[in-house]
Amino acid sequence: MSEQEVKNLEALFQARIDRDEKIEPKEWMPEKYRQTHIRQISQHAHSEIVGMLPEANWITRAPSLRRKVALLAKIQDEGGHGLYLYSAAETLGISREEMYEQLHSGKAKYSSIFNYPTITWADMGAVGWLVDGAAIMNQVALMGTSYGPYARAMVRICKEESFHQRQGYEILLTLCNGTPEQKAMAQDALNRWWWPSLMMFGPKDEESPNTEQSVKWKLKRKTNDELRQQFVDQTVPQANILGLTIPDDKLKWNEERKHYDFGEIDWDEFWQVVKGHGKCNKQRLEARKSAWENGTWVRDAAVAYAEKQANKEEKKAI
Ligand SMILES: [Fe+2]
Ligand SMILES: [Fe+2]
Repeated sequence: MSEQEVKNLEALFQARIDRDEKIEPKEWMPEKYRQTHIRQISQHAHSEIVGMLPEANWITRAPSLRRKVALLAKIQDEGGHGLYLYSAAETLGISREEMYEQLHSGKAKYSSIFNYPTITWADMGAVGWLVDGAAIMNQVALMGTSYGPYARAMVRICKEESFHQRQGYEILLTLCNGTPEQKAMAQDALNRWWWPSLMMFGPKDEESPNTEQSVKWKLKRKTNDELRQQFVDQTVPQANILGLTIPDDKLKWNEERKHYDFGEIDWDEFWQVVKGHGKCNKQRLEARKSAWENGTWVRDAAVAYAEKQANKEEKKAI
């Protein structure tokens, strides 16, 4: 294909996105579009799967049967999200083994939030309320993204995320209406999770080099800073209902902007965790790797069974 022909195809492709048409797996797409989507969708899938770990830490210690059932259902949902997303990435021509390989070797990233430890039961509340809350904000924006399989996966995922957020908030509401010790436990969880949750939206816009291209492809419908502001505006009144204090002395309603002003994120901590030096980076990767290794016999058995079935079918055909 000549350079001019590629340019023409690219222009047609962009025109379709501008008309809000969805791009489907077998259709022509610029190579950069394909690669960017493989990267983003697989990282999203990895985040769902690694995200099961901090909460799995509390399944055996949930304070009641009802809490345990809700937590189990939530964690299973996250596993499901990971599986839809791996399937969506596979439609772009990467295999699942390759994606796992990238995760296990540290080449692929996942959301840094999951490298923080969950040390009390109140963390289950804070994770649902804040981490799933921030995830929803990102994911609602992605329902309008241009790649069809990704956009459709988001629709279902978002419905489940709102259950996750509610169950987390309700855990905190119960603790906040409980004993002073329970309320203190909730406050402590908010103190530890607030800033990492704000970091989930990524670097500041001026330090986010891919934003412009991603906006063009509708992979980003709002910038990092816009989403972060939206999250703060939504979450402050919820903290007030709980009677908890957000750990930021610069947080203040700005009547002129009609938004909350808030303090500066510790970007040093952000980059440290991204680079692998968070509290749980090592532990999370080890857990995923050993799950993969311990599952070898299951995969082998599934392949052997499929071959046996195929042989039977062949014999029948003869
Ligand atoms: Fe999820
Ligand atoms: Fe979730």
